[in-house]
Amino acid sequence: MIRSIQPGAPLSGTIPCPGDKSISHRYAMLAALAEGRSELRNFAGSMDCRSTLRCLRGLGVEIDDRAAHVSITGAGMSGLRAPAAALDAGNSGTTMRLLSGILAGQPFQTVLSGDASLCRRPMGRIMTPLRQMGARISSGAGGLPPLQIHGGSLRAIRYSLPVASAQVKSCILLAGMFADGVSAVQETVPTRDHTEIALRHFGATLRQNGDWIEVEPAPRLDARQLDIPGDLSGAAFFIVAAALVPGSEILLPGVGLNPRRRALVDYLQEAGVRLSVENESHSAGEARGDLRVIWDPTALDRRPPPIRGERTAALIDEIPVLAVYGSQAGGLEIHDAAELRVKESDRIAAIAVNLRAMGAVVEEHADGLAVPGRQRLRGAEIDTRGDHRIAMAFAVAGLAASGETRVHEAECADVSFPGFYEILARARAQHP
Ligand code: S3P
Repeated sequence: MIRSIQPGAPLSGTIPCPGDKSISHRYAMLAALAEGRSELRNFAGSMDCRSTLRCLRGLGVEIDDRAAHVSITGAGMSGLRAPAAALDAGNSGTTMRLLSGILAGQPFQTVLSGDASLCRRPMGRIMTPLRQMGARISSGAGGLPPLQIHGGSLRAIRYSLPVASAQVKSCILLAGMFADGVSAVQETVPTRDHTEIALRHFGATLRQNGDWIEVEPAPRLDARQLDIPGDLSGAAFFIVAAALVPGSEILLPGVGLNPRRRALVDYLQEAGVRLSVENESHSAGEARGDLRVIWDPTALDRRPPPIRGERTAALIDEIPVLAVYGSQAGGLEIHDAAELRVKESDRIAAIAVNLRAMGAVVEEHADGLAVPGRQRLRGAEIDTRGDHRIAMAFAVAGLAASGETRVHEAECADVSFPGFYEILARARAQHP
């Protein structure tokens, strides 16, 4: 489906954001292993989190799914059942990598597959540690899905992460619950810690020992009632849109502000964007707050700080829309972002191709981009490559361009943000 985006109208009013995708995946998986019935409110309606629920159902978990309220009757640590068919993780790398950690500890065989994009993404990064733990795993050529996992009893390992990846860290921590002793993962570059927070909350024992995270075998987890904060990575598109379109002022209520996820807020504030946080609170160890964004032309005169090192890892999902922001503000350099090449698409290439299609100058490097500032964008045909974050980032670019922008395969936004275009249209229609 092609979505047409016209520049002009400012954004205003209150923008509802879906429940956090990363947290929704984790709560669903842990609830499936717990004793009793968990209630998960504001569960992400995204296709990715639906993929996690579908896989869990395939493993015999009872799930009652009423829009954003999901009830999961846990099967217990040893209650998952061998699936009758291959499990389909859809477009979701998080589903495949995290679930593999759980499946490695199950006494049966599972085939885990996904869509064409997911079947191009590297799984060697989880196969290596899971094999060291004793799981038998085979994959397609080059470590690509589908994965065939013969799980069973696992050995505890100590593993130093070779890539900054919350997914790999989480996979090992989840497998560690099924191991014969204390497993430990070392992360030298901090990544999102929703798994650690959620595991503790469901009753597992974890310790932070310097930059090592240790997890004890978990005989049982307990069901929980949880309320999931809004997804800051989804809110990012609206924050940048409001920062770019003259006259905008929006409020995003209840957005997740976990210290390892809120880098976007701190970064844009540093870049001079009028973005404030109100009503901060905590629930189940996760922070949240309301975000207010007011368009301020003085921010656009400034050059946002370069994104490199730990900051790249902390902003990894927001880089597509930040590249768009940089092209309109005083320019942006992005370094140490080779991981972007193995996301749902090669995001470095997708950003460069689409900014160029809109008439912008972009320098593409092996591990990043340099985007000069204050570039005039013109409406263009956007090749999203079926990647949700590229689709939404360039819908935002279209708001700042002259003429019509046509976002191809626009429906891929549903992977993380169902209703994105409708919410955008409503925010713009509210203005007199
Ligand atoms: C995620 C971790 C990140 C991120 C992805 C979600 C998670 O991936 O890009 O959208 O929920 O753990 P990596 O861990 O591969 O960097």
